[in-house]
Amino acid sequence: MKSIIITGATSGIGFECARHTASIAPGEQIVIACRDVKSGENTIQAIAHETGHPNLVCMPLDLNSLASVRNFRDQFSKSSCPCIIALINNAGIQNISQTQITEEGFESTFGVNHLAPLYLTLLLMPFMDSKASITFTASGVHDPKQKTGIEHPVFKSARELAYPAEMEEKLHIAGQRRYSTSKLCNILTSYELQRRLSNTAIRVNAFDPGLVPGTGLARTYSPLMRFLWRNVFPLLKYFVHNINTAENSGKRLANLAYSEDYKESKGKYFEGAKEIRSSIDSYNEDFQHTLWKTSVELLGIKQEETSVLLA
Ligand SMILES: NC(=O)c1ccc[n+]([C@@H]2O[C@H](COP(=O)([O-])OP(=O)(O)OC[C@H]3O[C@@H](n4cnc5c(N)ncnc54)[C@H](OP(=O)(O)O)[C@@H]3O)[C@@H](O)[C@H]2O)c1
Repeated sequence: MKSIIITGATSGIGFECARHTASIAPGEQIVIACRDVKSGENTIQAIAHETGHPNLVCMPLDLNSLASVRNFRDQFSKSSCPCIIALINNAGIQNISQTQITEEGFESTFGVNHLAPLYLTLLLMPFMDSKASITFTASGVHDPKQKTGIEHPVFKSARELAYPAEMEEKLHIAGQRRYSTSKLCNILTSYELQRRLSNTAIRVNAFDPGLVPGTGLARTYSPLMRFLWRNVFPLLKYFVHNINTAENSGKRLANLAYSEDYKESKGKYFEGAKEIRSSIDSYNEDFQHTLWKTSVELLGIKQEETSVLLA
């Protein structure tokens, strides 16, 4: 028995991913990594009730705090099944209201969506099975060509993203840009990590679930937008490309991370079940390298330590 760790499984796409994982991986331990243990327990209860999966556990993880990431690693390392066959970095936020910062003082969209998942991944490397998969839930909003209506990403440096200058623009514009940029960071990180793991059988991929209305992602939007998000946007799936239900996207995410069908996929970007090219910027190796280097510095990890963790 090995472990499949899923972040952000208490709601939306992650919940459906955990549900489907329970049905395709009955012999593995599924770890619901969640910031609210009560929601984690409710998630386990619902999935166990439906699938009868006997090995669902929840462990506390708040991506708003690097100390919490370290505590998660410590708890996981002492668990009964500390060998990872799949790590699914799915949790994420989109904040279009007041700027928030993480416990360590990083802008929270960048901290929660990029820095903490990278930290989690690095700290968990010693527990990876030789054929493990690592999957990052990204988004089509990272690609200006996709015309999603969300502000386009702007990547200059990780330090500017971690400590943004005072804003001279509307909060929702800055918030959307931070979100799309954090999703670009997920893809840059996937490609860089895969390159650094090129002499192993570990596979790293990025996943776009498509637009998935009705999830908790729109929680900082206005009441009207939240109403539309829950009740009107779902109907658009009949007319617009790449709009999905959480159930569909969660299933595809679980398959990408665990199913045999994707065992040869390494360093790729998937729109749903289909491999496609990501944005031009995402293939920029200078961006990939500089994001990695500065992120690792921000996390307080020495460059030589990352080589040891990835060895
Ligand atoms: N919905 C879309 O249209 C869409 C499109 C493209 C990509 N995505 C991506 O898909 C992923 C899942 O989003 P979703 O739409 O399913 O949204 P969601 O329903 O809000 O789910 C987000 C999950 O992340 C967790 N989370 C948030 N902050 C956290 C933190 N500080 N520490 C640990 N967990 C935290 C939430 O936990 P709580 O239950 O405790 O809040 C929840 O389980 C995100 O990465 C998002 O960027 C979504």
